[in-house]
Amino acid sequence: MIGPRLLFGGDWNPEQWPPEVWAEDVRLMRAAGVNLATVGVFAWAALEPEPGRYTFGWLDTVLGLLHDGGIGVALATPTASPPPWLGHRHPDTLPQGPDGVRRHYGSRNHYCPSAPEYRRAALAVTEALAARYAHHPALRLWHIGNEFGTTCHCGHCAARFRDWLRARHGDLDALNEAWGTSVWSQRYSQWSEILPPVTVQYIGNPAQDLDYQRFGSDLLLGCFVAERDAVRAHNPAIPVTTNFMDFYRPVDGWRWAAEEDVVSLDTYPDPNDPGAAMRGAMSKDVMRSLAGGPWLLMEQSPGAASWRPVSTPKRPGLNRLWSLQAVARGADGVLHFQWRASRQGLERAHGALLPHAGEDSRVFREACALGSELASLSEVDGLLGTDVPADVAILLDWESWRAAELPHQPDAGFSYVQRLTEWYEPLWTANITCDFAHPAADLSRYRLVLAPNLYQVTPAVAANLTAYVASGGTFVLGPFSGVADADERVHIGGWPGLLMDLVGVRVEEHWPLPSGWAEWAEPRGAEVIGHARGGPLDGRPVVFRHGRAWYVGHTPEPEDLARLLARVCAEAGVRPVLADLPPGVEAVRRGRVVFLLHHAEGRAEIRVDP
Ligand code: GLA
Ligand code: ZN
Repeated sequence: MIGPRLLFGGDWNPEQWPPEVWAEDVRLMRAAGVNLATVGVFAWAALEPEPGRYTFGWLDTVLGLLHDGGIGVALATPTASPPPWLGHRHPDTLPQGPDGVRRHYGSRNHYCPSAPEYRRAALAVTEALAARYAHHPALRLWHIGNEFGTTCHCGHCAARFRDWLRARHGDLDALNEAWGTSVWSQRYSQWSEILPPVTVQYIGNPAQDLDYQRFGSDLLLGCFVAERDAVRAHNPAIPVTTNFMDFYRPVDGWRWAAEEDVVSLDTYPDPNDPGAAMRGAMSKDVMRSLAGGPWLLMEQSPGAASWRPVSTPKRPGLNRLWSLQAVARGADGVLHFQWRASRQGLERAHGALLPHAGEDSRVFREACALGSELASLSEVDGLLGTDVPADVAILLDWESWRAAELPHQPDAGFSYVQRLTEWYEPLWTANITCDFAHPAADLSRYRLVLAPNLYQVTPAVAANLTAYVASGGTFVLGPFSGVADADERVHIGGWPGLLMDLVGVRVEEHWPLPSGWAEWAEPRGAEVIGHARGGPLDGRPVVFRHGRAWYVGHTPEPEDLARLLARVCAEAGVRPVLADLPPGVEAVRRGRVVFLLHHAEGRAEIRVDP
């Protein structure tokens, strides 16, 4: 729990506005019930207009106004967007693409996470901010950087990559073996020959690519940790977060969440997407799972997001609905990008709590209504700070995600998140609450564990899942699983490799099809539950059950998958929050409260026995 009330507010960028506007902003924030403003996310140039010359006066005023207005502050370190002077003086702080071309300043996120000058300057401004504001009475939360995700392929990154590889593989022989460099004469004879996965004549080495993805996540995590430690040193009582994006492969959520005090999410489902409510629920469940409890919705748009080809606003009531969905699924606060709509710059068409039309507007009136509703929900006994019970876990594994999507896998169209979504959707529709879990985590509290894909299986993961089933859990494994080890060496002798005994199935061939996926598989102790219908594998066994372990060796039609998962849930004793609700009604239990969220058109009538 970050505060004694549900948090409500958004990013405020006062540096984009003349000071006359600031007092009005705070007056309107109070009118809307805002209790947290995120300040300073992109304010580096305003805070340090020249190297080493800090101009904190305006931020003193801003934080003072917020404090006087009774509004708390999430103070950001501005390090996601260095001012032009940094790149101009030190071009090596600018990120380099795989093609060797530097990305210039003039936008944002233009930094090399390895460049010593970037690191130095970022820590210096962080240190100066922390020294000045760590004990400010309005400060509630530190917001480090913004949406970490920058990748770079420069010489600084190459040097750090080599250090990272030494730590992972030990010596050069081990690295050559792990990367399979005997293929295509890629053997390295000195560390200095090793590069990031830069543009090559044909396709690069998959194990190198995989290691660079791991390294990239760890490298950025190092930047986060350095800033976190700098602010913590000044006042350990203030929690620290950084904002994650929905399903973002470059940043390994499990490793990152372990380093945060508060897990927070930026989420922008498309109002035109009929699956938006389900997809929104899914990313919110991921955040709760990463956090291991309450989390914070850091950004959503009250209206349109300006970066879509067609940026449709949210219809009346939709921002409220999705905000309540966040609270239902464990959020202790609902914040927005942004408070006041920008007049200039690339995001001038982005929605805001206070739109260009001003306070006399539908959007602002809805913001005020949401503020007061969240304030009254804060009073509800058994809600704030509580958890969301779930009997089902879906395994979420960045390792499998990265590896299964490497180039030259059997199906270039394979999407890990799409697979997870296909399995999540029928459960969401049936109002069965799911957590997400790391495959090596303690799974004993779940009745049912689903792995829509587990491409990479390590001995530790195999042992964990085997022990889980042995102690009474039910497990369902999807196709294209147990294929390779952590260095992308294919498992010999059949798939799902180390899980073959658990599911009692041996897959001989993967059989991707223009639409869908099948496998040439034989039971090895499992009972055959379903056969392929049509296509080149017509009639062959594809769904298997081996005691409480199931294997689904194809991509079923949605109705078939829904039926299968319903059966597995029933057998595992998994129940919906409420059964037989009208279509489009989502039911979630949080603490002592059951939320009923109506996503469809028109009215829905529901009888609830008290
Ligand atoms: C991200 C960023 C914000 C803003 C929004 C716009 O989430 O963190 O600064 O650019 O996107 O949707
Ligand atoms: Zn770099």
